[in-house]
Parts: sequence; structure tokens; C-alpha cells
Amino acid sequence: MNQSALHPCFLGPYGENDQLLESLMVEFLRDHVYWRRNLHPEDLPAIPTGANRQPDYIAFESRLRRELHLLSAALKRSVPFHSPRYLGHMVSDLLIPGLAAQMLALPYNPNNVSADAAPITIDLELKAGLQLAEMVGWPADPGRDDCAFGHLTSGGTLANLQGLRLALSLKAFPVALCAAGVPLPGLPGDDWEAFNTGPDAATALFAQWCAWRDALQPRERQAWQRRVDAQRIETLGLSGFLDRHPQLSTPCVFAPATAHYSWSKGMKMLGLGRAQLALIPGQAMRLDVDALEESLEDCLKLRQPVLMAVGVLGSTEFGTIDPIDRLADVRERMQARGLGLSLHLDAAWGGYLASLFRDADGRLRTREEVATGLRAFPSPGVHAAVAAIPRMDSITIDPHKLGYLPYGSGAFLCRDQRAIGLLAEDADYVFDGAPGAGYFERHRQLGRYIPEGSKPGANAAAVYVTHRVLPLDHDNFGRLPAQGILAAEAFMDEARGFIERIAPLATATVPFAPDCNLVCLAMNPRGNRDVARMNRFMHGLHDALRADPGQSMQRGEYFGSMTTLRPEAMGPTDTARVLQALRLDAHALDDGSEDRDRIVILRHTLMNPFLLDGGGAGGGYLRGYFDYLERLVAAALAPGARAACA
Ligand SMILES: Cc1ncc(COP(=O)(O)O)c(C=O)c1O
Repeated sequence: MNQSALHPCFLGPYGENDQLLESLMVEFLRDHVYWRRNLHPEDLPAIPTGANRQPDYIAFESRLRRELHLLSAALKRSVPFHSPRYLGHMVSDLLIPGLAAQMLALPYNPNNVSADAAPITIDLELKAGLQLAEMVGWPADPGRDDCAFGHLTSGGTLANLQGLRLALSLKAFPVALCAAGVPLPGLPGDDWEAFNTGPDAATALFAQWCAWRDALQPRERQAWQRRVDAQRIETLGLSGFLDRHPQLSTPCVFAPATAHYSWSKGMKMLGLGRAQLALIPGQAMRLDVDALEESLEDCLKLRQPVLMAVGVLGSTEFGTIDPIDRLADVRERMQARGLGLSLHLDAAWGGYLASLFRDADGRLRTREEVATGLRAFPSPGVHAAVAAIPRMDSITIDPHKLGYLPYGSGAFLCRDQRAIGLLAEDADYVFDGAPGAGYFERHRQLGRYIPEGSKPGANAAAVYVTHRVLPLDHDNFGRLPAQGILAAEAFMDEARGFIERIAPLATATVPFAPDCNLVCLAMNPRGNRDVARMNRFMHGLHDALRADPGQSMQRGEYFGSMTTLRPEAMGPTDTARVLQALRLDAHALDDGSEDRDRIVILRHTLMNPFLLDGGGAGGGYLRGYFDYLERLVAAALAPGARAACA
């Protein structure tokens, strides 16, 4: 890995690239001012030249400066995400292309709800969607009917919600079409069949309906549109829709036990109910596809409709990657037997790993090619999972996580642009006139499809420009996730030494080997058999590792995060293995009380691009981290300190 390729990309831990960023900021702020001046140079300045010498102006400026100084001072207590000493959540330093593009675009204040409010950045958002689609291996040529489509969201939570919305629309639309009596050939025979059409056939049906409708005379067209709309779930609501179709019931969603809590939120927001979200216990924190298939078999037998199955590419807490290829196989088998369901990939965290797997011409690299220079990544399973991403129907990828961009940028992608029209919401004051025929003309009125209304165009500029400066292939953007994988390998090496060194004091283990650059560590004081005591000890370590706004940030030498392991998520085999590794009894978690039903662990996200530099206690940041942890463990378990974790 050529480290120097990363040097211009970030402001840097020490602000090393301050001049680059500053000169860009000054240049483009001036540029913005010239733009204002040149709009109608014949207009006289509204603010008089001498205004800044007036008492009100001076008073205003001093209040402004004071408040900004206070803000700036307060922000010094922010979490130092940019630092290689920060190993906590899924965030790191920001890429200069994104930061500069976002700050450049901010004073123009584009609103990507519609082309009226964002003539430039809305197309950048659509193009960013296509860039991401290409990275995951979907058709991204806007001239193709089946080209993919993507848009930005405020984050992964809303992108996941959008996945649920689209899946529900696709599931219910064929039922509405039949109920409206639309005379199209080959419609499903009954409600159950229609509800199980599956996303591909439902998308084709929707396209067929649109073509048929658009060929009608205007009056007839409107009448049919009203008839179909009147039957749609979006008009009737879930209960009204199900009342009309007694063969059907609320569809459920399957997700791995590692699923992010946004899935539960989404189920509630859509009125499907959290009870319809079935979490499948994992195997080593990866989706147990056999267990999923058994559950789907039960659904088929009981005629329980299924909306979607979720796969996770990079779980929030363990960095594990589900067997996406096998998930896609199961869906095919179930679809062939009459149980239709959508597949959504939650790659909010791991989505950008796909850049490592692509050549500049879009070719998927072989496992051996991807593995060059890396030790064990990607495993055959991970390579097969990434290769199978194109078999998903929709995907969440967060530029504000492994994309190293400012917060406020998630992305939702769907494989076939024709499906997205199902989500359209009309409002004449914003989306005047029929959408045009080309890809950009059709999708430019983004507000019709997105869950939000107004949304920042500056974020779209940041994502697009970043992908242009660092194209999403292994030779460009891919260097960043590759650096993260190297950091994870180095972390595992350091962890092995640490585990040996602290053995006289505590038993430590990496409970689940990660598939990418997110690694956890579990620890139990030597001789301890009580889960509650172990958890107090781990909470104590985490207290020292978390950013505490009440204290100076220099106080903490390193920053980490925590999570828990629960038996219901781990499954019996992994629970037994982890308990044994921590020298706890097989029944240590059976107590049922809140502090004994889970294992508190430390969680490390290894995405800082300079983590492998020589800084931090001389032996590098990772060595420095483990030295620090060793000192924390020794202090917590020193005889005088025993009360703290007793
Ligand atoms: C796998 C996964 N999905 C969804 C989300 C939610 O993303 P956001 O916090 O951007 O809404 C996260 C956040 O960590 C995540 O890790």
C-alpha cells in the first residue's frame, strides 16, 4: 500500500493539509461572491459601504464574534473523530474533496427536493447514485431501461426505511392492479399469488401498467389511474387494504440478529409493527441462512406473507458479513415455490468495501486479486458475498461512514429504476408538469420519491465530487478500505500480544473474528465467575475510553466504544464458546437479571487512514492503544481498586 497516495486526501491528524483546504475555501468563497456580483451588476449594493462603521453593525458583529468564539471553544470538547487515537464509532477524518465540495456548495443553499430548487446538485445526487450502483455491480447506464437508481438520505436509517417502503409498494401493487380490474394479460390469479409476485415481476408489471395507461386518451387515462390508486395500499392504509383482501395478512420481515435498530424503527414507522420483524439468530454473528430458509418454509405452509429478508454487509457491532450469495439462492428457491419477497442489503457500514473488489472498468476482481497485499481478506465467503450484491433488490450504503464524508449522507439504491415510480407523491407547487422521458428528466423531481422533503444539495455535491476525485475502484477509493483491513490485521496481532501479557490479570478474547475493520474485545478479571462483576469491570474500562465532554479531551489517551453480546443473538454454540473463552460457567448468563443477561465488550472501528503511522507511544497507535488498555486493566484490578469492579 502506497501510503503517500493518502497524504492529500485528509486535513490530517495534525491539520497537515491546512493550506490546501484553506486555499480552496478562500478561492471558492471569493468565487461565490463574484457570482453574486455578476448576477445583475446593474443592481446597486443593498448594504451601504459604510454600514460596518455604524453602531448597530458594530454591536451585531461583536455579538456574532462572541457567540462564534463560544461555539468554537465549546466544540473543542467534541469527540476527536479525526485522530488515529479514536477507535470508537464508524467515523474518522473527512475526505478533503467532500469537505471542500460541501463547504463550497453551502452558500448556494441548493435544496435537492426538486430541480426548481437545485438545478445543479440534484443531477449530482442522481449521478452519485449511479456511481454507487456501478460500484456494487448494477447496470448504471442511464440509457438502459433497467438502469439502477439511487438517491441520498439523511443516513442509513432512512435508507433502510426507504427499502421497506419500496418493498411494500412492490408487494401490494399487483394486488391493487387485479382489484382494479385492469385488462392486462397474465395478471396473477388470486390475491395470494398477486401478493407473492416478487419484486422483479412486480416491477415489470408496474412498467407494463404505466405503458398501457400512457397509451390511453387523457380522460380514460385519468379514470384508470383513479381506479388503480383507489386500490393501492398507499391509499387504503394497511388495515383498509387487508380488509379488502382477507386471504392476506400483515407481511413480516426477516433480518439477522445483528440487524441495526433502524429496522425496528422502520417497521414501526410503516405501521407494520415491530412484532413482524423476525430476527434470525446467527452463526458467529452472520445470518444463519438455513434457519432463515426453515422460517420461510413455515411461512409458505402457513400462508404468512413475507415482505423482505435483510442481509447485512458489515454488521454495526461486529463487522461481520452475511452470506449474501446463499441468501439470494434461498430467495430464488422460495420465489420458485410461490413465496415472493424482496431482498435488501444493509451495507450502511460495509458498502464502500465493494470499491476494493472493482477494477476501473467495473470488472469484479478475483479473490486472489483483492487479497494482494492483505493477509486473510477477503475470505472465500466474503468474496462470494460481495460478488452476489447485484442479486439484491435494494441497498443502503452510507457515505458518512466508510465513505469518509460529513454526516447527513446516507444512500438508498434500487436495482431497477422503473420500480421507484411506485413511491411517487405529487404536489403541483413543487413538481409541476409530467416528468420527461430521459433518466435525469424522469428522476430529477427527487422529492416525489424520497422520505424527506427539503434536503441539502451540498451533501450531494460532496458525495459526487469525492467519487470523481477518488473513483470507486480498488486503485483509487479502494485504498481506504484496504488501509482499514490492514489496520484490522495489525490490531489482531497487537491483540494477541495483549491477551498474553494480561493473562495473569484477566482473560481476554476477540469473541468473533471480524470480516472487515471492526473488532471487539471481551475481558474477564482472572478467577471471576460473575457476569455482573465482569460487566462492571468492562464498563469501567469503557468509561476511561469514552469521550467525556465534562473533561478535557487530552485526558483520554485513546477513545473506544462498547457493545454487548446477548445469548439470543449469539445462539447456543457461540454463547457456550464465548463463555468458555472467558472462563465463565456454561450457565453464567442464565440468571435473567439485567446485569447478568449479556456480556459487555469493547468495540473498535479501525478506519483512521493514519492508524498504522508511527505515532502514539512510539510503537504506533495500535501498540499505544493496547499499552494504554493494559495500564487501565492493571489499575482497575490493582488491590486498592478492587472495589471499583468488585
Ligand atoms: C448496518 C447499519 N445499518 C444502519 C445504520 C443506521 O445508519 P444512520 O446512523 O446513518 O442512520 C447503521 C449505523 O451504524 C448501521 O451500522
